Amino acid sequence: MHLVAPSVLSADFSNLQKDIELINNSEADWFHVDVMDGVFVPNISFGFPVIKAIKKFARKPLDVHLMIVQPERYVKAFREAGADNLSVHIEASVHLHRTIQMIKAEGMKAGVAINPHTPVASLADIITEIDLVCMMSVNPGFGGQKFIEHTYSKIQQLKELIEKNNAKTLIEIDGGVDLNNYRKLIDTGADVLVAGNTVFSSSDPSGTIAVLKK
Ligand code: DX5
Ligand code: ZN
Repeated sequence: MHLVAPSVLSADFSNLQKDIELINNSEADWFHVDVMDGVFVPNISFGFPVIKAIKKFARKPLDVHLMIVQPERYVKAFREAGADNLSVHIEASVHLHRTIQMIKAEGMKAGVAINPHTPVASLADIITEIDLVCMMSVNPGFGGQKFIEHTYSKIQQLKELIEKNNAKTLIEIDGGVDLNNYRKLIDTGADVLVAGNTVFSSSDPSGTIAVLKK
């Protein structure tokens, strides 16, 4: 059974508790939490105080996606703020293997995020070490962007790499997931669907989460 992780980036920040309760009471599995530094991506989202506030009310794991340079600087701080899964970008961490060990040593599930232009093959020597690949299906930085179709073939390649290595790594698809493409994504091999705009711009967010779970 695949997992659904609504992205808090598209929630109502003037009434965050309401949207957190909505996710708590829905069929969603995780909270997807996007952290942007204005350097790695051309946008700034939020940091520790907001994550701590989410953690205070969330009754499901926090899946934190770091879009920041040198994420190794803050591994411990994100654990303390409440992260359960921590994903760092392969393009942003020079000593990725060490960063992954740091994340696991803090008791979190370790994820690696890859941009649309980054080949799946670049994960070959780290795949057995990680719990999750966050495959970007848009260029990171903003919610509500259009899904990049080339993602399907990358999912197939990643699935092959995982099977070849007998790994248990989950394939998470992040960006532009909607009610038209979610089925094909699952059929192609996705294990986790992130959805921001599709959930929160809908007139019935928990009903939309239920559809994405089907
Ligand atoms: C994009 C973020 C995504 C974003 C997805 O940089 O990593 O998690 O919130 O939003 P939608 O589902 O609206 O594309
Ligand atoms: Zn994300």
